[in-house]
Amino acid sequence: MDRKSQTAVLVTGGAGYIGAHTAKALHERGFLPVVFDNLSSGFREAVRWGPLVHGDLRDRAALGEALSAYDIKAVIHFAGLIEVGRSTVQPDLFWDINVAGTISLLAAMREKGVDRLVFSSSAAVYGQGQRSVQEALAEEADKAPDSPYGATKLAAEWLIAAQCKAYGLTAVALRYFNASGADPSGLIGEAHEPETHLLPLAIAAALGDGKPLTIFGQDFQTPDGTCLRDYIHVSDLAAAHVAALDVDLPAGAFEAINVGTGEGRSVSQVVAAVGKAVGSPVPHSIGDRRAGDPPSLVADPTRARQVLGWTPRCSSLEQIVEDALRWERNPRYGAGRRDPAKRAKADASA
Ligand SMILES: NC(=O)c1ccc[n+]([C@@H]2O[C@H](COP(=O)([O-])OP(=O)(O)OC[C@H]3O[C@@H](n4cnc5c(N)ncnc54)[C@H](O)[C@@H]3O)[C@@H](O)[C@H]2O)c1
Repeated sequence: MDRKSQTAVLVTGGAGYIGAHTAKALHERGFLPVVFDNLSSGFREAVRWGPLVHGDLRDRAALGEALSAYDIKAVIHFAGLIEVGRSTVQPDLFWDINVAGTISLLAAMREKGVDRLVFSSSAAVYGQGQRSVQEALAEEADKAPDSPYGATKLAAEWLIAAQCKAYGLTAVALRYFNASGADPSGLIGEAHEPETHLLPLAIAAALGDGKPLTIFGQDFQTPDGTCLRDYIHVSDLAAAHVAALDVDLPAGAFEAINVGTGEGRSVSQVVAAVGKAVGSPVPHSIGDRRAGDPPSLVADPTRARQVLGWTPRCSSLEQIVEDALRWERNPRYGAGRRDPAKRAKADASA
């Protein structure tokens, strides 16, 4: 399709893991994804379905130029810092990029008359609070972030909700649970440097590319003592973003929606699934709990079904592991994260 006739969507952080998968989903639906990214943790090679504008979120003028240059109609905002552990040692940096960066984006959008936003929020806005580990999280659940990272996501949501009321912006905040897996094409996948996420670390350990996996805590009040999480395939997550762009909402509306499967998987279950797929057990040891890690984060996905008409299609644990393994066996970029020095840095900051 001719680029000029396509509706352009600005994808901040589109060179990163979830952003790149969403850019592909947008392209497949006929949109032009314009990626705005400073490449601090993203990869140029992940930007395949539209142009890359190299810039920092806190640079409002650069954002404004990108919005005008491509006649952007909507923004999907992924850019930010994501490591929970690092947020406990560098909280100021997280507030600067995740919150002040969002202020800068909202100001640029208002200036250019772009009034539709989808925001990457997180299950980390909930924290464990007083909830029992069996309880799935509905959107109304108490917000008690266990980390500065979660606090920045909640603060950004509040900011966005207030701007919806004040200026007629229409926004959807998607609170994702654990993004995982990779595009089945093998062209894009998860590549965080340093890598702190369970699935890529477990696969690297099983493939003998890294040192043994550390399981952080086996003494939680959960069925097998390890943390419970809701793993959602990144392609399902990407589809939820496209659905959030399409959903018919009045001007000024703000919706926060959980994006998960509703099924909790324990760290031990994930590790066993990786061992099965690789054909050899994952070498691992048990370490201390990490700061800011709630025992259980599992979504109640009812609102996603009702408002977005979205349900997960490829988020079985087997499918997630199969797609992640294909990518980890042949990553197109980011292989440097397997460097032992980077692994050590990841452990220190996790
Ligand atoms: N990965 C998960 O499981 C998960 C879960 C819940 C929420 N999220 C949220 O989803 C979003 C994307 O996560 P991801 O896993 O794809 O992370 P990622 O690190 O792969 O992607 C983030 C992207 O943002 C870019 N970026 C960072 N700071 C920037 C800045 N100041 N200016 C411009 N670009 C900048 C990075 O270069 C990178 O390409 C984040 O906002 C994160 O909080 C992720």
